[in-house]
Amino acid sequence: MTAPSSITIRRPDDWHVHLRDGDMLKGVVGHTARQFARAIVMPNLTPPVTTVDAAKAYRERILAAVPEGMRFTPLMTAYLTDNSDPAELVRGHKEGVFTAAKLYPAGATTNSDSGVTDIANIRGCLEAMAEAGMPLCVHGEVTSADIDIFDREKVFIDRVLRPLLKDVPQLRVIFEHITTAEAVAFVDESGPNVAATITPQHLHINRNAMLVGGIRPHAYCLPVAKREKHRLALRRAATAGSPKFFLGTDSAPHAREAKESACGCAGIFNAPHALESYLTVFEDEGAIGFFEDFASRHGPAFYGLPVNEETVTLERVECEVPSSIDVGAAELVPFHAGETLRWRFRD
Ligand code: NCD
Ligand code: ZN
Repeated sequence: MTAPSSITIRRPDDWHVHLRDGDMLKGVVGHTARQFARAIVMPNLTPPVTTVDAAKAYRERILAAVPEGMRFTPLMTAYLTDNSDPAELVRGHKEGVFTAAKLYPAGATTNSDSGVTDIANIRGCLEAMAEAGMPLCVHGEVTSADIDIFDREKVFIDRVLRPLLKDVPQLRVIFEHITTAEAVAFVDESGPNVAATITPQHLHINRNAMLVGGIRPHAYCLPVAKREKHRLALRRAATAGSPKFFLGTDSAPHAREAKESACGCAGIFNAPHALESYLTVFEDEGAIGFFEDFASRHGPAFYGLPVNEETVTLERVECEVPSSIDVGAAELVPFHAGETLRWRFRD
C-alpha cells in the first residue's frame, strides 16, 4: 500500500483545552481555532469559572480573541468546588452555557486549589448532573501525599471512579487525559456512559523523555507521563477505533520561565501542531483509517453533538516545529519543539 500524500477528514474538535485568559488567551486561541471547530474549554482560571455568568463572560472573551476569519465555538465547563450548587449547574447546562462540569481533586494540578476535597461533597451535584444528562469531565488523580505520583491515576480508579459509578451509574463521565493501561482497561470495561480523552504527548512520550539525560520541564504535565507499557496501551486504545476514546489535547500553555524553574509548572503547549502530532501516531500504528473517528466523530457522539460538516486536510509535507513561539504575552515552547513532523495542516 502506498502512503497517502494527503488526508482529508471532517473538521475535528478538541475535547480538552486550556485557553487561559487576557493576553495569553489572545496569543493562544488562534492555534486551537485554526484546526478545531469546537473545544471543551477548561475552567481553571484564577478565580475558577464556577457560575453561569462567569462562563458566559469567559465565552465572550474567547470569542473576542479568535482571529479574524476563523470560526470557533468554545464549549464551556463549570469548575466544581465543595460548594457547587446543583441548581446552578443544571440551569447552566439547560441554557446551553455549561456543556459539562469539571472535577479537579483539590491540589491535583494547576489552579486546582479550589477543587473538590472529597467527592462526597459534590454528591448532590453529580446526581443532578446524571439526571440532566450533563457530562462530568474528570481529572483522575488522587492527591494524598502517601500515594506515589506515578500511581495517582491508578489509585483514583479504585478509590473514586469505581465507587462513583456504582453510586451514580447513569452519570456520563469523561476520564480526561488518561495515562495508564489501567485507565484504558477501566474505560473499556465500563458502560457506554464512560469515555476518555487522550493527549498527543501521552501517545508520543514516556517518562524517560522527561528524566533521561537531564530534567526536561517542557515534557512535564499532569498527569505525568508514565512507563513505556502505558504509552503503548494508550496508542492501542486511541488507534483501535473504539468510540470510547477521543481527541483532547490538554494543551496547557505556561510561559517559558514558569516551566524552566526550580518548581516548574505542569502543562504542555501542544496546540500549534496537535493534528500533525496525532496523525503521525495513527500512521505509525497503521491506523490512518481510524484517525477521523478519533479526531472528529467519537467526541461529538459521546457529547450528543452533531459532527462538523466542514473538512480539513493534512499534507505529507515536512513541518518544522519552532523551538519557541512568541505569543505576545509570553514565549512558549511548543510540544515537538525543534522537531520535524512529516505531516502539515493545510490552512
Ligand atoms: C493543566 C494546566 O496547566 O492548566 N496542566 C497540565 O499539566 N495538564 C491542568 C491539567 O489539565 O491538569
Ligand atoms: Zn487539562
